[in-house]
Amino acid sequence: MASPVLFFSLLPLLLSAAASPATAGGGEKTTHIKLYWHDVLSGSNPTAVPVAQAASTNTSKTLFGAMMVIDDPLTDGPDLKSSKLIGHAQGTYISAGRDAVQLMMSMNFVFQGGKYNGSTVAIMGRNEVFSAVREMAVVGGTGEFRLARGYAQARTHTLDIKTGDATVEYNLYIKHR
Ligand SMILES: *[C@@H]1O[C@H](CO)[C@@H](O)[C@H](O)[C@H]1NC(C)=O
Ligand SMILES: *[C@@H]1O[C@H](CO)[C@@H](O)[C@H](O)[C@H]1NC(C)=O
Repeated sequence: MASPVLFFSLLPLLLSAAASPATAGGGEKTTHIKLYWHDVLSGSNPTAVPVAQAASTNTSKTLFGAMMVIDDPLTDGPDLKSSKLIGHAQGTYISAGRDAVQLMMSMNFVFQGGKYNGSTVAIMGRNEVFSAVREMAVVGGTGEFRLARGYAQARTHTLDIKTGDATVEYNLYIKHR
């Protein structure tokens, strides 16, 4: 399907190795997590795969009407090979902009290892991939992140225009129990 190139933008998320919870009133905590989200479209083992597109989707334009399914690695640093794996981003993004590359992200960040092992954060929001900073909503969570709400900010770290592969820094600001 479409040139993977345009999809790069999606890389919204990043995580951080360093999560710092602070207790607020009512026993509620605020946690900041910085991490890197890796959308790999190239090669024989991609983490982002195209699953559908409209008959009218123009792959030379905004890819409006196309959908990707992702199981993207989340790491504590920008280098996928040398950084520590801290989880995965599983879900979909669809190209929902007719005149610009604007994605609708819907994904769960699933953490592995450490105190967040098995806990998830649900992220949903608009990702205008060519903007410097994209903000999305944290709409819920499980485990350590029960009753989560907050927001995520995504900044593109690297984008390979040729393949569409992208690494995106995500900063999550989460209030939870
Ligand atoms: C697809 O978009 C490109 C770039 O805007 C445009 O030149 C081309 O005519 C479009 N193709 C169709 C079939 O609309
Ligand atoms: C994380 O959870 C999984 C599933 O419960 C378990 O198999 C694994 O040992 C855990 N890892 C750590 C580092 O606690």
